[in-house]
Amino acid sequence: MPDVTVSTLLKLKQKGEKITMLTAYDATFAQAACEAGVEVLLIGDSLGMVLQGHDSTLPVTLADMAYHTASVKRGNQGALIIADLPFMTNATLEQTLSSSAELMRAGAHMVKIEGAAWLAEPIRQLADRGVPVCVHMGLTPQAVNVLGGYKVQGRSDTAARQLRADAMALDQAGAAMILLECVPSELAAEITQSVKIPVIGIGAGSDTDGQVLVLHDMLGLSLSGRVPRFVKNFMEGQNSIKGALAAYVHEVKNRSFPAAEHGFSA
Ligand code: KIV
Repeated sequence: MPDVTVSTLLKLKQKGEKITMLTAYDATFAQAACEAGVEVLLIGDSLGMVLQGHDSTLPVTLADMAYHTASVKRGNQGALIIADLPFMTNATLEQTLSSSAELMRAGAHMVKIEGAAWLAEPIRQLADRGVPVCVHMGLTPQAVNVLGGYKVQGRSDTAARQLRADAMALDQAGAAMILLECVPSELAAEITQSVKIPVIGIGAGSDTDGQVLVLHDMLGLSLSGRVPRFVKNFMEGQNSIKGALAAYVHEVKNRSFPAAEHGFSA
């Protein structure tokens, strides 16, 4: 068991202390992030873009995710490890269970699945079998072809109502965490207040229970040159990667990141 568990994260939410999460894909960065005090390491399928150079996360396979999860596990020093179920590896309930089992065997302590209320049954089944689930909601990058691009979600009243209702249904179903990507800050704050479980934001304002960024983004590295508005380059003002990682943890904990300029309005 890691030092940071689902109970630790629940307590941080209850105390109002911000949770720090960062993506990691290898042992060296996992260790550096842990030394900086990052509590949750996410092996995101963003690795398809930042490591493999694809223009979306869709080509990432379960074997890719298992390989990087095992690498992160070897460098981990007590953080909770979450691994993404990549595109279409949860197309059926059976597949969801077997894909999740593979990532847990590789070293994950929780799996992350993109979706909405339709995940209630898989979440129940996974929780019953000992697999905590983080649900990735709002902008779900695996659905980029349905969404028509990487756009802010939940801006209309109807979409906001739906997102709120879905989050509450998933909390009830036994989800362990919600990750909200690119939703208006006010809506993210409301959702965070409405559920018992920790809500982690990326492009979701400052009032979620914690923050996550993609490692390469926060180190100022970008293949495409396009930097999303919610990203801050933590290398600025630092002379080492370790300094940037520590600055990220410090600024999330003291609530100076994200600032209003990193969020979206309805
Ligand atoms: O895959 C990933 O890195 C993610 C981040 C956007 C949080 O899900």
